[in-house]
This record gives sequence, structure tokens and C-alpha cells, in this order.
Amino acid sequence: MKTFKKILFWSLLGFALIQFIPTDKVNPPVDHKANFFDIQKTPEKIQGLIKNACYDCHSNETVYPKYAYIAPISWSVKSHINEGREHLNFSVWGSYNKDLKENMLNKSIQTIQNKTMPMPGYIVYHKEANLSEAERTLLVKYFEEILKLKTY
Ligand code: HEC
Repeated sequence: MKTFKKILFWSLLGFALIQFIPTDKVNPPVDHKANFFDIQKTPEKIQGLIKNACYDCHSNETVYPKYAYIAPISWSVKSHINEGREHLNFSVWGSYNKDLKENMLNKSIQTIQNKTMPMPGYIVYHKEANLSEAERTLLVKYFEEILKLKTY
């Protein structure tokens, strides 16, 4: 019993202490000249879908959920956001070259179709990101249209 109490004490202390290690939750500014929605004049409905399903990890307009304030969950959330933004950041779309834009549109279509995006673990806590089949089709059609018309 004594050891158990010791372990509990040190675990709780450790948990309390790691709360003091900060994660940076300040969103970088959005430049409207480089922003995907502004460049593409994306219809409101499609904007809503992308915002709900992709924006927390693929834009500079991340909305942090409450659980993102508790270490060590906060570290995992932040690392997904950093990684997501590195791959694809809709807020800096205008800075991508033609090849990267094409590639990202193609990959977005693929990941939406094979349901690897939005990340399955994320959907559990974000019901609005759980796209229906119809919504997935709508998004895929939208990205395909941009690819076809080469208006990226
Ligand atoms: C919870 C965070 C999160 C959400 C939400 C999310 N993604 Fe991602 N996405 C990531 C991470 C992390 C990566 C990089 C690692 C990987 O490929 O799994 C990534 C990678 C990607 C890539 C690049 C794949 C590659 O092979 O280079 C594309 C394209 C993408 N996501 C599209 C989307 C789209 C479209 C949505 C919305 C329908 C979305 N993502 C929602 C976190 C997310």
C-alpha cells in the first residue's frame, strides 16, 4: 500500500508539473491574398465543410478544443497541427507552386475518398468533421473541378 501511495503521489506531482510546459497556441496571421477560400472564391457551403473537417490542422485558423489545454494531450494535438500545416496549409495556398497545388488537390481527393482524412481519431471528438458520403462526394467534386479547369 505504501508503494502504491508513493507511485500515486509522484504521478500526480509529475502530471501537475508538466502542465507548466507551454505549447504555442497563437495562430499565425491569415494573409487573404494567399488564402485558399479568397483565391478560389469557394462557395459558402464548401467552405463550411472544409472548415469543419480540415481547418483545425490544415490552416492558420485552428480552433483549439478544451482538451488541447491539458498536457500531455496538448503536445500530441500541437504536433498533429504542426505536421498537418507542414503538408498542407490552406492559409498559405497562394505561396505554393503549380505542382504542389496539383499534388495537394489530388491527395486531398484521395484522402477524402479513402477516409484517411479527416484523421479518424479527430472525428471522435469533432462530430461536425464526420463527413457523410454526400459531403465527401461534394468536396471531391469541388477539388476535381479546380484540377480540371486548372484554376488553382
Ligand atoms: C486532426 C488533424 C487533421 C485533420 C482534421 C485533417 N488532417 Fe490532413 N493531415 C494531418 C496530418 C498530421 C498529416 C500528415 C501526416 C499524414 O499524412 O498522415 C496530414 C496530411 C494530409 C495531406 C497530405 C498527405 C500526403 O501524403 O502528403 C492531405 C492532402 C490532407 N491531410 C488533407 C486533409 C483534408 C482534405 C482534410 C479534411 C477533409 C484533412 N486533411 C483533415 C492532420 C489532419
